[in-house]
Amino acid sequence: MNHQLNVIGVIGAGQMGAGIAEVAARSGFEVLLTDVDRDACEQGLKRIANSLERAVSRGRITREACDSLFRRVSTTLELKDLARADLVIEAVVEDEKVKATLFQELNRFCRPEVIFASNTSSISITRMGARSGRAERFIGIHFMNPAPVMKLVEIVRGLATSDETYATALFLAKRMDKMAITARDYPGFVVNRILIPMINEAVFALYEGAGSVLDIDTGMKFGSNQPMGPLELADFIGLDICLAVMEVLHKGLGDSKYRPCPLLKQYVDAGFLGRKTGRGFYRYDAQGNQIAPATQQT
Ligand code: CAA
Repeated sequence: MNHQLNVIGVIGAGQMGAGIAEVAARSGFEVLLTDVDRDACEQGLKRIANSLERAVSRGRITREACDSLFRRVSTTLELKDLARADLVIEAVVEDEKVKATLFQELNRFCRPEVIFASNTSSISITRMGARSGRAERFIGIHFMNPAPVMKLVEIVRGLATSDETYATALFLAKRMDKMAITARDYPGFVVNRILIPMINEAVFALYEGAGSVLDIDTGMKFGSNQPMGPLELADFIGLDICLAVMEVLHKGLGDSKYRPCPLLKQYVDAGFLGRKTGRGFYRYDAQGNQIAPATQQT
């Protein structure tokens, strides 16, 4: 088993990539965080710094530990700098073409034994692995959002993923103090196959007037002990991501029960993508704090 993991490459410095980079640094790894966008790199580092500062202010880590941890994270705009990585986790936009092209390019720079992991929430690991040039060393490691807080990772084996790659992914999850489940490479894996249709059903309930945004969220929050109501959670995940997952489930499983709610599609068409655009089922201020429900069906 390849336990010689010292340097973790993370591609994509958005919310998930930065969160994964933070988790890796907190677990003692050196982290190379890369993005094509300089601003995204800076924002990603800022996110990590803010999260670590919070940990210091809560007395969870010392100032010295915070500083040395932060020094373990470096950013780069060049994919070729990941040649130093012992394992790479991709967390870029949920677009199969973009991911496939990126892995093909990465394959030229990384040592042959290096494992490629994708944080995809629903795209086939088998298909991406086949196109990556290293199907045996390709696996899904799906973190939940926010990655530093959520305990679970889904390990998704593609058809060609080797036992050694799988064992290394489990080892990494353990080093990161995450609880790992193993999911077969079916649409939506395990968590999103269950969670996103639940969210889609909440949008149908709103669309059909079964309840207001607040009724639906309050009902589910206090009636089934969820930390966030499903519409608030949809805003948190991103309505575009929720729609993309529903489309993958609908197409991949071929059952009409997975059809995306027309209202969800309309929100995405309108650019109301949730917290990240300041408006979804709720409105948000520039800091991402919720202000009020935003729909006409409140
Ligand atoms: N990044 C890092 N840390 C964060 C964070 C973020 N985005 N948001 C919250 N936290 C931390 C806070 O700093 C706080 O930590 P400390 O106690 O150390 O300060 C802790 O989390 C609790 O936060 P808050 O007190 O501010 O708020 P809360 O108690 O309401 O918890 C929450 C916030 C953890 C997000 C909680 O509401 C929650 O668990 N929501 C559900 C999240 C969920 O279901 N995620 C899965 C989405 S599905 C997915 O990710 C899969 C996919 O592919 C789509």
